[in-house]
Amino acid sequence: MWVEDIWFKKSKIFRDERKLMFDYIPKVLPHRKEEMLKLGEYFKEFILNPGSISVKVILVGGIGTGKTVVAKSFGKKIEEFSRTKSKSEIRYAHVNCHAHRTLFSIMQKISAELRLSIPRRGFSREELIYLLWNYLESSDKYLIATIDEADFLARTSGFEAIYELTRLSEIVNKEKMRISLIFIFRDLSSLLSLEKSAQSTLSHNIIRFEPYTSDQIIDILWARIKEEGAIYEEAINDEVIELIGELVGFDKGGTGDARLAIEILHRAGKYAEFEDREVIIPEDVRKAYNDVIPSFPKEEIKALKLNEKILLLALVRLLQRKKYITKVPLGILEFEYNELCEEYGIKPRRHTTLWEYVQHLKNMDIISAEKSKRGYRGKTTLVGISSVPLQTLEKLLKEEIERDLGVS
Ligand SMILES: Nc1ncnc2c1ncn2[C@@H]1O[C@H](COP(=O)(O)OP(=O)(O)O)[C@@H](O)[C@H]1O
Ligand SMILES: [Mg+2]
Repeated sequence: MWVEDIWFKKSKIFRDERKLMFDYIPKVLPHRKEEMLKLGEYFKEFILNPGSISVKVILVGGIGTGKTVVAKSFGKKIEEFSRTKSKSEIRYAHVNCHAHRTLFSIMQKISAELRLSIPRRGFSREELIYLLWNYLESSDKYLIATIDEADFLARTSGFEAIYELTRLSEIVNKEKMRISLIFIFRDLSSLLSLEKSAQSTLSHNIIRFEPYTSDQIIDILWARIKEEGAIYEEAINDEVIELIGELVGFDKGGTGDARLAIEILHRAGKYAEFEDREVIIPEDVRKAYNDVIPSFPKEEIKALKLNEKILLLALVRLLQRKKYITKVPLGILEFEYNELCEEYGIKPRRHTTLWEYVQHLKNMDIISAEKSKRGYRGKTTLVGISSVPLQTLEKLLKEEIERDLGVS
């Protein structure tokens, strides 16, 4: 196949890959309705009676909790609403302080978003502020600006920068309050050193964004697949999505970061595509996860007891055979383990010892083990491997076992 053929070939996995890019704004935001409604409340007066007040709101939360996407999609809604239903037009501008590190640069970005033509040089910050105000005043427009990654601005430009921004609406206020602000922080520690007066103007309206649980991650991923149409529904199944939920969900010891979850899904899709498959399988997810978080505990695995290694290899083999499944009952694993012991010519350990091994491997985060829910007769323990690619594990375990046995 020529490289051109790859570009012309239709994907069996992705319906619209752009929808997995980090800056795509989805139509629906599962589990962020409450945060969106709070924003709506805070801005109600500003939107219904433009000019009457200036609003300042803080969004705070860890990476990938949806702060940026909620602010942007709120901005989009406001612009649409004001175009059709409001007396005056309200514009939205979004500035990321990683890219715009000074007040001047922030003002430049806001002006650019409003399509104001400004000279590149020879303009002071005050002149820029005046230009912005003049534009809003003469065209009778209002502005909501989001200052994203504001922690960074506070760290690099000092707190005066934040303080001056909070006063922006007052500086340009003649008769009407034309500017409102949304600040986005990862945490509020940088606010503590702000002057009391600035602190109090800011601390009234805080919306907290909690890390996503695995169930929430699962909903977000399915929404990206079904409602947004990023991936063909036939190309994926619950098992795969649940595995990502387990890796990323905050309640399962993950970071609760939706960006990570989407990135894993995207990369897993790429792996399936490389191998010309029509479906994404758990092994694609394990590989993808290891690309983004290389957490393979090689030394710990080498230090395992011989029988623990054999038990782990038995699990790897089972999961490799059951390509589409992420967990197997302990009884079946024992069976496979016994067979493997026979192959290697060693005496298998008893059930209680194996049970201890499983607990140990679980505590090391190499395998997952939990009581079964529905679908199995009686209660049984289901064991699986979530984060390490089976291929990598298999190779290492075989070498290790053979070395322990003195075969090689
Ligand atoms: N509730 C949600 N529904 C759909 N996608 C979400 C949701 N929360 C976050 N995302 C997606 O996850 C990624 C990270 O979100 P983002 O808003 O950039 O997080 P933050 O700004 O808090 O770090 C983005 O691609 C975003 O579209
Ligand atoms: Mg963000």
